[in-house]
Amino acid sequence: MAHYRSAGNVPPKRHTQHRSESGDLYREELMGEEGFSSDSSLLYHVGVPSAVLEARTWELPDQTTTPNEPLLPRHLKLHDLFPTSGTAKDRDLVTGRRLVLGNGDVRLSYVVGEQTSPLYRNDTGDECVFIESGEGVLETVFGHLPFGPGDYLIVPRATTHRWVPNGPVQAYCIEANSHIAPPRRYLSRFGQLLEHAPYCERDLRVPSEPEVREDEPTEVFIKHRGSGPSGLTGSIHVVPRHPFDVVGWDGCLYPYTFNVDDYMPITGKVHQPPPVHQVFEGHRFVVCNFLPRKVDYHPLAVPVPYYHSNVDSDEIMFYVDGDYEARKGSGIGKGSISVHPGGHSHGPQPGAVERSLGVEYFDETAVMVDTFRPLDLGEAGLAVDDGRYAWSWSGGRRATSTPDLPGDRS
Ligand SMILES: [Fe+2]
Repeated sequence: MAHYRSAGNVPPKRHTQHRSESGDLYREELMGEEGFSSDSSLLYHVGVPSAVLEARTWELPDQTTTPNEPLLPRHLKLHDLFPTSGTAKDRDLVTGRRLVLGNGDVRLSYVVGEQTSPLYRNDTGDECVFIESGEGVLETVFGHLPFGPGDYLIVPRATTHRWVPNGPVQAYCIEANSHIAPPRRYLSRFGQLLEHAPYCERDLRVPSEPEVREDEPTEVFIKHRGSGPSGLTGSIHVVPRHPFDVVGWDGCLYPYTFNVDDYMPITGKVHQPPPVHQVFEGHRFVVCNFLPRKVDYHPLAVPVPYYHSNVDSDEIMFYVDGDYEARKGSGIGKGSISVHPGGHSHGPQPGAVERSLGVEYFDETAVMVDTFRPLDLGEAGLAVDDGRYAWSWSGGRRATSTPDLPGDRS
């Protein structure tokens, strides 16, 4: 995020002595991206940010993946992952995540949690966490970010934070192995969001003033590059004092929040393609959102999408709210994910085109992730595959020789 902010107590000149009222030096830390060549912030710590007392392994939730073979579109019912009400009390939004889909660029996981999470940082890349429901506060080393339904929380790589829900929270977690930012085409050459962008700086919510916590040894859960499945490993560091010890910071790198209601959909006389719905991008993937909006106004317009073979991308749609016109009759509903793999044509379910003619408004909320490399199924994706979606364009008919898919109860 290329917008400068200053919070708390920072010295007038960088890299100069900065002392507390009692005369103690604060420890200056540069947190920067791309080897001192991209956005960064300077943080002023009470303690030594690199101090560690103990290190041990954190056994990450199951990160194994299975290729989407034989190649098929799939319907994954995320709400079936945590079906029993009340169980969220025993789960937090970090260690409770279940892997739905993943590849070497991005992992999509889902969690319903109510517990305060441990202190956590992701050293493999930025996270974009979409809040399907619930509210709470994301506490970070930069300050606090209250969150609620429809919020995206962008957490830069290596930002120490913890999730403090106020009741059960349903969260869809997009973990990149890169950085996540507004699409480059929305930005001026100096980084300002342009007039044609569907949101602007005013819509981004930034952390409160930083808080200094009590001085005591604390555990920090770290997800980092390693030898595990997907090249991911976990560690737990015990640090000598709470990492929230920043008296001030300034720069252009910090977590922020953006709500889907503040995204102004771009509409047209005929059907507009997904890039007009884009909200963020990472390395080899994009994030789009489809939101309630007026639709096409050509007298002969077909409001639902044409069939399309997005030959370079896997297309993962998470259905959050409303009625998704093009998917009626497929079993897709709130909490569903559709997986449309690259190269396989997809489009409206039978009858959807006819039903959409003359419709002037779509009441739908969905978050889409398109990846440029194939996504494999995580344990959670396999567990809630409905096994039938692939046959929905043929009226449910399939050859008897076709093997059963996981979850097929037909
Ligand atoms: Fe599509």
